[in-house]
Amino acid sequence: MRDLREAIRDRIDLVELVSNYVRLERAGKNFKGLCPFHTEKTPSFHVSPALNRFHCFGCGASGDAFAFLMRMEGLSFREAMRRLAERAGIELREESLPQEAPDERDRLRRLVYAANFFYRQCLKRTPHAQQYLAQRGLTPETIEAFELGYAPDGWDYLLRFLERHNFSLDDAERAGLLKARDDGSGYYDRFRNRITFPIHDASGRVVAFGARTMGDEEPKYLNSPETPLFEKRNTFYGWHLARGAILRQKAAIIVEGYLDLIMLHQYGFTHSLATLGTAFTEEHAARLKRLTERVYLMFDSDPAGVRAALRAGEALVQAGIPALVARLPQGEDPDSLLRTHGAPALQRALDTATPLAAFGTEQIIHELAGERNPLELEPALKAQIVERGLEWAQRLPSELDQMACLERLAPLTPAYLTSPQVALQTLQRELQRRRRSQRRARSTQATPAPETPTPSARPAIPKAIFQAESEVLRATLYPESAAVVLPHLPSLEWQVPLHAHLAAAILALPKPPYHYSNPAEMLQQIADDSLQDLLTALVMQETPPMSAAWAEGCLQRLTQDALRRKRARLVAELAQHAAHEIAPPSAEKLQEYWRMRVESME
Ligand code: UTP
Ligand code: MN
Repeated sequence: MRDLREAIRDRIDLVELVSNYVRLERAGKNFKGLCPFHTEKTPSFHVSPALNRFHCFGCGASGDAFAFLMRMEGLSFREAMRRLAERAGIELREESLPQEAPDERDRLRRLVYAANFFYRQCLKRTPHAQQYLAQRGLTPETIEAFELGYAPDGWDYLLRFLERHNFSLDDAERAGLLKARDDGSGYYDRFRNRITFPIHDASGRVVAFGARTMGDEEPKYLNSPETPLFEKRNTFYGWHLARGAILRQKAAIIVEGYLDLIMLHQYGFTHSLATLGTAFTEEHAARLKRLTERVYLMFDSDPAGVRAALRAGEALVQAGIPALVARLPQGEDPDSLLRTHGAPALQRALDTATPLAAFGTEQIIHELAGERNPLELEPALKAQIVERGLEWAQRLPSELDQMACLERLAPLTPAYLTSPQVALQTLQRELQRRRRSQRRARSTQATPAPETPTPSARPAIPKAIFQAESEVLRATLYPESAAVVLPHLPSLEWQVPLHAHLAAAILALPKPPYHYSNPAEMLQQIADDSLQDLLTALVMQETPPMSAAWAEGCLQRLTQDALRRKRARLVAELAQHAAHEIAPPSAEKLQEYWRMRVESME
């Protein structure tokens, strides 16, 4: 199968194929044009004849001829193969096609794709639906980018469209587009007289819909049911549009609503995602783990929203991603805030976001003390707060987070009056005791999972560092600069997780000069999709020109930055010792600190 795929791919001129859809112009060794997968005004979509791959520097779309055709035409792999084989003049026997019976998921994908096409066409012909969207403040570009549509007001508009195009109605029911009549006599449209919001999977394929009424009917939103294509617990709304921005910003914003998400993107917060009216799960956290080191939760400020933020935050910190809770003025959601006060108001909410540890502690205090000053509560109530606070701290994997909780709790313990330090130490010891017994309890049940080190909340990675890292990786593609950077790859402190993964993958390749002599071959040896995409981008990016000196400069920038971070860490640690008189810093720590000070003066 793989051989067949490669044989076909080798015979397809990707530039020619893409030219059927995109106007391409030559740019150096590559061709470029306006990306067909997102809306843009200046071309960032590149096709490399050498690699026979495309890559968009704007939205991150990347892949070979198969990927292009599947995405462009909404085809299944099988169909793409049939089409490309024909184009390449390779005769395919039926049995050489993938999966004897056409895969159910492929069939359902085509259906959902067709329905999305239908709904979008309907929107173009329905002025009152367009008016609704305009009145909600959505620009035509946004409507296009999010592929919004309209499901007509009737029982069988979609049904008849699907029938006309020979789709199976049983399949359409399984795809969540139609519902079976109670008397079993057939089907009817699930979404009627509603705005449709297509939901995409991780590869950017439409798999489901949300649908909002334009009036006040209940429910306000209808969603596709779970189908073989669509599992709510691991799907984000907006993922395919936000992924690249999250990677660049090192941060993601999570909101709850479709329109909140869309507005955030419209106002330039393109690193935003939404959950689908369901809880934020561990699977969601896992998907974010490779892209970002910080997540802002921007939920409603009502009690349900606070509970949701706490649950989501916990899933994130358990996955090792620092979470911050951004609070909105009472009664506002991101959509309303943006529309009334604009981007600066939303940026303010982000800038003043509370780290999860502190947010949780404050909620406990607020819940038990209400509006009263917690320091003036009766002792029993204070003790209750401390107890709940300790339970909360116990659930946080990072020691810094735990300390933040304990600092907030210490004034509520009796010991605080005599000595704040003793109060804090007592709480620390209590927490340690609990964590030990918790571990013991767990280890008798099962072997404990290895502790994952949690990065502390870091500010966004400076652009210069992001670029220096990516330049060092790009340097591995050219013999002269590769000689400079390869020896350093294993020891660099990568700030971007994906860069670290690619460095590891490059190191695992057969030794140079083999590997940089043929990028196409190199790509084939790297199995992971995200890494392939990143590498493609690096191969295609030809400016600034790479040289040994340039690579050297980038390396230097990274090592200097690592040194700066190390120094900052030490200073912070020493400051903590000074502030809390915990254990005095060790002699080695102090020595290291002085050594670095001296070095930095040189
Ligand atoms: P909200 O009720 O806060 O709506 O629901 P919203 O997003 O602000 O919508 P607008 O601004 O009134 O248009 C938040 C999210 O909860 C889910 C949807 O995902 C929605 O975006 N939800 C809400 C449902 O799934 N069904 C509903 O009936 C309501
Ligand atoms: Mn809203």
